Amino acid sequence: MGEHTVTVIDNRTGKQIELPVRKSTQGPDAVDIGHFFRETGYFTYDPGFLSTASCHSQLTYLDGEQGMLQFRGYPIEQLAEHSSFIEVAYLMLYGELPNQVQLDGFQDAITHHSMLNESLKEFFRGFYHDAHPMAIMVGVVGSLSAFYHDSTDINNPEHREIAAHRMIAKMPGIAAASYKHSVGEAQVYPDNSLSYTGNLLNMMFSVPCEKYEIDPVAEKALDLIFILHADHEQNASTSTVRLAGSSGANPFACIASGIAALWGPAHGGANEAVLKMLDDIGDVSNVPKYLACAKDRDDPFRLMGFGHRVYKNYDPRAQIIRKMCHEVLEKLGDGNDPMFELALHLEEIARSDEYFIERKLYPNVDFYSGLIYKALGIPTNMFTVMFSIARTVGWVAQWMEMIGSEDQRIGRPRQLYVGAKQRDYVPLGER
Ligand code: CMC
Repeated sequence: MGEHTVTVIDNRTGKQIELPVRKSTQGPDAVDIGHFFRETGYFTYDPGFLSTASCHSQLTYLDGEQGMLQFRGYPIEQLAEHSSFIEVAYLMLYGELPNQVQLDGFQDAITHHSMLNESLKEFFRGFYHDAHPMAIMVGVVGSLSAFYHDSTDINNPEHREIAAHRMIAKMPGIAAASYKHSVGEAQVYPDNSLSYTGNLLNMMFSVPCEKYEIDPVAEKALDLIFILHADHEQNASTSTVRLAGSSGANPFACIASGIAALWGPAHGGANEAVLKMLDDIGDVSNVPKYLACAKDRDDPFRLMGFGHRVYKNYDPRAQIIRKMCHEVLEKLGDGNDPMFELALHLEEIARSDEYFIERKLYPNVDFYSGLIYKALGIPTNMFTVMFSIARTVGWVAQWMEMIGSEDQRIGRPRQLYVGAKQRDYVPLGER
């Protein structure tokens, strides 16, 4: 059998072209339109990339219809149950689960890159006291390239690896420092004896005058949330990282651009927006009113934490987080968080509503993650920062995959121009 192709016929000219089909290992194959413009004179038009693959990747596979997510082929449910965030980070960067020696070596590399340059720490003081921590993250992460010149040669695989380790290692310290700045407390140094998430909790919540005990429930819950958020194929922030990186920009700048894209409420900012929404709803008696607003086309309000571009089924990460929410609230509180009750009620009502059923709108990962963060004592404006720490693994893995790829070239979309046709300049006095 010959190469699989798709035939396109131009009804105006009768011209027929064959487009090659690229095979996937799982999921839909892709029609290669790389020569489409050259052969037809047309661009393809797909705002929001509803049908367009922007790259090939071996990292993450998700099937939105089935509600299935895999990292390097491993189902998210299995990784959530058996793995750790550091192990998943290794898997994403290097393609295979590590053996004990590899894991120890990687853990060591991440641990020993966790300190921040003392001058970098001065940056935090320059931010206004009530700056949003995500604004601080964008600025400080972007500035990392000013400190680590020795790992910004993107053509050197060793530099790429060190930059990747540095970013994964330093994100918790930057995140914690942005929180400490907002509450007016001293920054805390990393402690190499602690786990990745234990270290983060310690840097966020310990103070010089008191001993801080890391709650193992909180440490484990955070580790699990980080696994779930580690990557999610070509979402808005990851695509931003790839696009920025395609120009040859240094990796620190690329990750800063990813953080900026993540901040939006339709993406990573949704976890913060969910809590705000639950707070606004306040009581189960108000649920019908808010649902009516969410369904009203003339009302911009959307049910935050519901719906997904790819999942047209229950987000598998939301399933895991929902279950964990029960456990965490049981262990850390009295198990009766009214906000969790409200969220469960809202989900139940929405999922039996024709509007949500028809559009296949299910809870996404952010619907319950904020409730866990809240139970761990993490303030609402830090939720998206938490997301950014975990997603750094995906961003750097995707960036490394792209730079290492043989057909890597600058990303440069085309456009359908619908503006004015050529016209002559009119002098100011004649307008
Ligand atoms: N509440 C009410 N209606 C909704 C919602 C929602 N949360 N999400 C989608 N719809 C409706 C939408 O109005 C449209 O209706 P119609 O067909 O009548 O015009 C239909 O469902 C399809 O929605 P869409 O906007 O075309 O879908 P999209 O793929 O462009 O958007 C989304 C996906 C995630 C941006 C959107 O569902 C949304 O805004 N959700 C709320 C924000 C949110 O929870 N974001 C987190 C996403 S998961 C984590 C992450 O990726 O960072």
